[in-house]
Amino acid sequence: MDDTKASQVELIREAFHYQSRFDGSTMVFKIDCSIIDDPHFPSLMKDMALLAKSGFHVVIVPGAKEWIDSALEKHGIVSTYYENVRITTPEAMPFVEMAAFHVATRFMTLSTSRVDAIIGNFFRARGMGMINGVDMQHTGVVDKVLLDSLERALKQGMAPILPCIGWSPVGKPYNVASDEIALAAASTLGAIKLFIVSKGGGLRADMYDIPKGVDIDENGRIVKLNLQEAGSLLAANKGRAPDESLKSLELGVQAAKAGVERVHIVDGGEEGVILKELFSNMGSGAMIYADEYEAVRALRNSEIPDILRLMEPLMQKGVLVRRTPEAVQEKKEDYVVAEVDGSVRACAALHDWGESQAEIAAVATDPMFAAMGLGRRIVKRLIETAAKKGFERVFVLTTTTQDWFEALGFKEAPVESLPARKRNLYNQRRKSKVFALEIEGARKQRSSRD
Ligand SMILES: CC(C)(COP(=O)(O)OP(=O)(O)OC[C@H]1O[C@@H](n2cnc3c(N)ncnc32)[C@H](O)[C@@H]1OP(=O)(O)O)[C@@H](O)C(=O)NCCC(=O)NCCS
Repeated sequence: MDDTKASQVELIREAFHYQSRFDGSTMVFKIDCSIIDDPHFPSLMKDMALLAKSGFHVVIVPGAKEWIDSALEKHGIVSTYYENVRITTPEAMPFVEMAAFHVATRFMTLSTSRVDAIIGNFFRARGMGMINGVDMQHTGVVDKVLLDSLERALKQGMAPILPCIGWSPVGKPYNVASDEIALAAASTLGAIKLFIVSKGGGLRADMYDIPKGVDIDENGRIVKLNLQEAGSLLAANKGRAPDESLKSLELGVQAAKAGVERVHIVDGGEEGVILKELFSNMGSGAMIYADEYEAVRALRNSEIPDILRLMEPLMQKGVLVRRTPEAVQEKKEDYVVAEVDGSVRACAALHDWGESQAEIAAVATDPMFAAMGLGRRIVKRLIETAAKKGFERVFVLTTTTQDWFEALGFKEAPVESLPARKRNLYNQRRKSKVFALEIEGARKQRSSRD
């Protein structure tokens, strides 16, 4: 099979894997109205319909700001703002409702792909009230997401659409920011993903002050950020007038903090953007992730006995090379641990052997916490660290875990490929196999699946 065909097969395999892993999971799409007249809008709808038909729960929150702006302008209504929030007056409200529902109906085109879309009052609103003496009138906030109604619709395979209008318990309408609706819906539903789709979305590095540690790809795009990095990027650009991308980043940070595993900021004007972002490494969006890496951190001095306890049974069996407390202490900086509920449950180390190569070693998971993804997370974290430190290759010496490392992208390599210092120490009796991963390859594996 040639390379192209092999990578197509790989893509199909990944798509099936992803589909089976996340079947029934919820994804919220906050989509700006700037996109609804784009030539790619129909294919965006088709792709979302495909996701809904494949068993994902799809929730749509249309942004209607530009439509509201132009509807108000057409009717000679000038908006006033308090701290960048529109004060919706009673005379503006009918036009706001009209614009919001007009935008929402454009998403009903999902039905052309045989997915039932349903516009509904899936949240209850309340007024913002008086803020510092300013009456916010018909500008409201989400009071409560109506989880039962949403779940009922989702269970029937429908795609709920949440326009930016909500009603109070006595039926008073409020204009609510679509960002806030998307955030509330994603966190209440326990969404695994929030997509923030706008025209030209994504994060271009040349537009912003970039804090140290943030990765930029060869096209000058910021591809992924953990919560901390996203926070420092926002802080570094605080003085700027917030553009759409920074606003999306802010929403992404809030969503990640609220428990959404992945937030993708993407350009809806790009053909197939959602599918590319989900199923391949061809996505051009920026991803904010909150979950897995958070639990992985540097080893603390007081935890040396904990990791030795983890490793002891494996050292006894000869699966891991024996390490003394002194040896761990000496290389303490190399170790990371994964914590669950305040206790160390997995560990690993990254040792520098020169020649731009680093060894991933001492990988061990508490058997009580096996198969929860701790091992994978900790190794992925070390690969990222190695990339950041400029290593070109990471390798492992393993006797019993080769399949596991292969699943993480490592490939068998000859002992001769080890850096000289390590090669000289290679234990001929142990006959460990060498598995290695080229960092450039690892960098390219930026897909968002896991
Ligand atoms: C290998 C090890 C670190 C995996 O830890 P973990 O936290 O359970 O890993 P993950 O949750 O990320 O992955 C678990 C998956 O890998 C599989 N797996 C575990 N050990 C494996 C092995 N030796 N070979 C192949 N697959 C293995 C599990 O069956 C599980 O599969 P599933 O996802 O289909 O259920 C752990 O089993 C361990 O401590 N092994 C002994 C130490 C070791 O060999 N270290 C490597 C040499 S440095």
